[in-house]
Amino acid sequence: MASSKDPGMGAPGAFPVDRPTEALVRDHDMVRSLSDKYLNSDSQEVKMQAGKQILQALHMHSRLEESVFYPAVRCIDEALIKHFEQDHQKVDDLLATLDGMSLGDAHSDALMRELISAVSAHIQEEENELFPRIDGSGVDMTSVGLQMQSFEANMVHTQAQLSDQGAMRR
Ligand SMILES: [Fe+2]
Ligand SMILES: [Fe+2]
Repeated sequence: MASSKDPGMGAPGAFPVDRPTEALVRDHDMVRSLSDKYLNSDSQEVKMQAGKQILQALHMHSRLEESVFYPAVRCIDEALIKHFEQDHQKVDDLLATLDGMSLGDAHSDALMRELISAVSAHIQEEENELFPRIDGSGVDMTSVGLQMQSFEANMVHTQAQLSDQGAMRR
């Protein structure tokens, strides 16, 4: 039986190196569906789990864009990329605040809603204002895709090591 389960970030062999924006859109879709889950659930447990997954996915997605993707496409529209980097800064500030909190109380819920709304607007803008301009820009996206693939694989590997260490300490 074919599984419809999304392979998720960093699944082996899943990175579309010749069309790396597809990988970014896939991350965006994952964040959108986790956000819907967070906003529409009455269960505290579901909210906390979805919230945690949102924080982690956003952290990795932002690093991937800032380290590899944005520098590669900056030539398409310098001002737009600058604007996106400022969006990331705002999101990072919220992530840092939320990271130290126990998700589930009213204050963290308000911050989480603020985060979700900022992120939805940001990813929509990336998809509408930037991605359609990449084709025909002359940027070698396969080379960018290969760099993104290895950057992401590294992050996933480091993340796995960190959680292994965490598990050993428990
Ligand atoms: Fe972004
Ligand atoms: Fe993005």
